Amino acid sequence: MAERRVQVGIVGAGPAGLLLSHLLHLAGISSVVVEAKSRAHIEGRIRAGVLEQGTVDVLRDTGMGARMDREGLLHHGTILKVAGEARRIDFQDLVGKSVMVYGQHEVVKDLVAARLEAGGEIVFEASQARIDGVDGDAPTLSWCADGARRTIACDFVAGCDGFHGISRSALPADVLRVYERVYPFGWLGILARTPPASEELIYAHHDRGFALLSMRSPEISRLYLQCPPDEDIAGWTDARIWEELQVRLAGGEEWRLDEGEIVQKGVTAMRSFVAEPMRHGRLFLAGDAAHIVPPTGAKGMNLAVGDVRVLARALESYYSRGREEALAAYSDTCLRRIWAVQRFSWWMTQMLHTFDDASPFDRRRQLAELDYVTTSRAAMITLAENYVGLPMDWGPA
Ligand code: FAD
Ligand code: DHB
Repeated sequence: MAERRVQVGIVGAGPAGLLLSHLLHLAGISSVVVEAKSRAHIEGRIRAGVLEQGTVDVLRDTGMGARMDREGLLHHGTILKVAGEARRIDFQDLVGKSVMVYGQHEVVKDLVAARLEAGGEIVFEASQARIDGVDGDAPTLSWCADGARRTIACDFVAGCDGFHGISRSALPADVLRVYERVYPFGWLGILARTPPASEELIYAHHDRGFALLSMRSPEISRLYLQCPPDEDIAGWTDARIWEELQVRLAGGEEWRLDEGEIVQKGVTAMRSFVAEPMRHGRLFLAGDAAHIVPPTGAKGMNLAVGDVRVLARALESYYSRGREEALAAYSDTCLRRIWAVQRFSWWMTQMLHTFDDASPFDRRRQLAELDYVTTSRAAMITLAENYVGLPMDWGPA
């Protein structure tokens, strides 16, 4: 039996679940967030780092922008480097927008603090979460804590529990459709205590593989190297990582990265993945629970923000005006933008990485594409428009 009732039960305290809970609170809608990990774990988890203009606007408009505006780094452009030659894409000039470099874990910290301060409930270290009854009108969310199973009754459940969560499997197998592409490489990522060697991000295409220079602050660099998808990190000493970064990022130039202490390193495999539909009965999927993009272009967290913004508005329309149209349209509304972003992330990935099975023709075509996209104003506008983020309400008016 359910001990109590909330309007929306949320599984997962990543950016999707936390922001949804915050947006619902602002609309006067109650929620509980149930999270498998500890607060320290989710606040220390280093992941995405680039916020689209639309994400920045959502955070500012909902009172979550103060620390981001103080500590985040506003970027008006980015650099594509091919065989050592740097070419700049000027977002401001091309599309009049910018992005903000501010770590996902900082967004998570801000949201957790805001929810707790407002009396919101986040259950950390909740194991064996279960969603039941989404086909009917009385779904429940339950979990184990302190040796006992707790159950709450909900009007709706939001599955915001990431790619490896339990929510997606609550959709019946004959309803769920999955679209997937697995890439033959991954990214070896490091966090290093050294000032970023460039004011703007550098996406480098190199014969030895892709490399990316990013950052988290004026003192902390975030750097990535294309590597085999199942690469054993033990084979990468700090010296080898720096040596490879120096080669791939600098190309032919007289330019060196300042090497510093590597404080974190790991390998991430890469895939494109979409699960449809994103709604079944009273269950809604949002963020990585429904879709994954390869990281080139930094879209993962921004897509999660887009989903929950649509969901929060639809729930608000339901509770304040009794209207179900927006809830009914949730999956289609989100999927249109998701597929547009899937296309961009796939395009950036295939353009910038090296492929072992590429023919000489493929290689020359790829170089021609990089040349075109850094030379033609029309092509640069396309890149910039997608990079700063398509409108959050992308789709038919
Ligand atoms: P998540 O952030 O995954 O949050 C889901 C939450 O649900 C987690 O806190 C998890 O602990 C919790 N959870 C899972 N299962 C359960 C359960 N059964 N019960 C309760 N809670 C559960 N994107 C970029 O743009 N750039 C990057 O550099 C980048 N790097 C990444 C590196 C890694 C290792 C990963 C995994 C992702 C990365 N991403 C990156 C993607 C980006 O971080 C995600 O798109 C973003 O986190 C999505 O937010 P989310 O809230 O949907 O999911
Ligand atoms: C970062 C990650 C990305 O995938 C990207 O395209 C740009 C920046 C980052 O972690 O900073």
